[in-house]
Amino acid sequence: MLKITPIGKTLGARIEGIDLSKPLTRTDKAQILQAFGRYAVLCFPAQTVDAAQQKAFAKEFGSLEINVAAGHYTVPGHPEVMVLSNIIENGKAIGLADAGQDWHTDMSYSEPIAFLNVLHALKVPVRDGVPLGSTEFLDMCAAYDDLPAEIKARLEDLTATHDFNKFWEEMLKRPGTQRKPLTPEQRAAKPPVSHPIVLTHPISGRKALYCTVGYVTKVDGVSKAESDELLAFLFKHQLQDKYKYKHLWTQGDVLCWDNLWTMHNAVADYRPDEPRHMRRCQVMADWVFSPEAKAAATA
Ligand code: OGA
Ligand code: MN
Repeated sequence: MLKITPIGKTLGARIEGIDLSKPLTRTDKAQILQAFGRYAVLCFPAQTVDAAQQKAFAKEFGSLEINVAAGHYTVPGHPEVMVLSNIIENGKAIGLADAGQDWHTDMSYSEPIAFLNVLHALKVPVRDGVPLGSTEFLDMCAAYDDLPAEIKARLEDLTATHDFNKFWEEMLKRPGTQRKPLTPEQRAAKPPVSHPIVLTHPISGRKALYCTVGYVTKVDGVSKAESDELLAFLFKHQLQDKYKYKHLWTQGDVLCWDNLWTMHNAVADYRPDEPRHMRRCQVMADWVFSPEAKAAATA
């Protein structure tokens, strides 16, 4: 039996009694899926998975993204396993140093969108006994539930445009960034896409606000004034502290979060000489919308 302990107000649970380096049993998988449907952010502490084992676990929940932009920041032989790190070895960065450092939802700029991010902490910066480089999450189902009825009615049939370049442009403005403006080819490879602003969660059936500050540029099919007004309201609404869970990492954590239900932000409060090292798999939202996933959650 897995031991599942809630660790936040609404989001977040710790799951113990499982070794993720071993194949998942049907009952473990069912319990984990149910936990995703209840807590959205799951922490499996003290795991020692290698890249292949992390991949095998992540693959249980959908197909894995191969991030073309990640290129050399992947584990050799495992293009689906990306490295996030500020560590420099032999004069070369071993990973992407500034991933996710503002509020966003992974891959909302793409078609298809993402379900899970599976991040394994190999090294966590700690200063004076306090872990740094936390990851914060916001509960977008709770944010939706709290919306005034009039806004819910307005959002029902609306879609919004998500643009990869919006986040990239914001990162370019940061002093000392290693990023370069996207080339026309990179830009063309990630054209803006539209998604409904209200998404029905495939496991819980709850509605989620899917309108991430990091990538959404406009509400489709309305005037610019109306789009600006609606987005200003939604962005402010979704960023309220009451929706937040802040994950303080411990080395060995495998943290999995549901991008259909949450937004997240990587807190950049550590220095270049305080090493952080994560391995990352991105699970697409394909299998989770299938009848098999529904069956697996009740197995
Ligand atoms: C990501 C991301 C956050 C972190 O991997 O998509 O946003 O804290 N990472 O590393
Ligand atoms: Mn992210």
